[in-house]
Amino acid sequence: MTSPGRFITFEGCEGCGKSTQIASTLTWLRATNLTIHEVREPGGTPVGESIRHLLKHDPVGQSMTAETELLLFAASRAELVRQLIHPALARGEWIIADRFHDSTTVFQGNARGLPIEAVNFINHFAIAHREPDLTLILDLDPAEARSRALRRPRPTGQKDRIEDLDLGFYKKVADGYRALAQREPQRVKLIDASGSREETFARIQKELRHAFSTLPR
Ligand SMILES: Nc1ncnc2c1ncn2[C@@H]1O[C@H](COP(=O)(O)OP(=O)(O)O)[C@@H](O)[C@H]1O
Ligand SMILES: [Mg+2]
Repeated sequence: MTSPGRFITFEGCEGCGKSTQIASTLTWLRATNLTIHEVREPGGTPVGESIRHLLKHDPVGQSMTAETELLLFAASRAELVRQLIHPALARGEWIIADRFHDSTTVFQGNARGLPIEAVNFINHFAIAHREPDLTLILDLDPAEARSRALRRPRPTGQKDRIEDLDLGFYKKVADGYRALAQREPQRVKLIDASGSREETFARIQKELRHAFSTLPR
């Protein structure tokens, strides 16, 4: 019998270190004999990548309403779940996701203030009720996260509508993530991301080994 596929998501403010830590985690896990897919949100399918451009870079998207933003994220995710995530999990493969439905709860619910019942309903419809097995939130002071995000090189030279948001927005996002970790302590773990890349990665490895006992020591 194949072992079950595992679904791990990384969450947190822009600039908290998700991309950095996912790269280290993939290098570590790919040394095992697991098949692992990396997915990013929004995007990861042809339709999803078009939606990503509209949400993040296209001037047409600049003035969209919060409701539209919620539905576009959900549309991108619905596609990713059905085309890639569920089939891979069914084959016993692993998924590492850079953001997933918790980002919608926190960004569109907590930070933009959309009604949480609507956000929850759309979220669970989009993901067909399959939540991640483990969610790691990289927890960082919002001012530090924002300054890391703004210092980061931007290869395309494009402005990013989401990472350019003000500090008040970053604070709402950080608070939203902390509240989520309190509501769902089994699935969602806060990882202190204030130290060096190596310190944060050591915390992540510890959490992953604790959750999945077959991982290398
Ligand atoms: N522990 C750390 N300390 C200082 N800078 C970091 C650390 N981890 C990542 N960075 C840098 O901060 C910026 C944002 O990190 P990144 O991984 O892109 O965050 P995210 O994907 O969550 O937005 C990058 O320039 C990255 O090199
Ligand atoms: Mg990133």
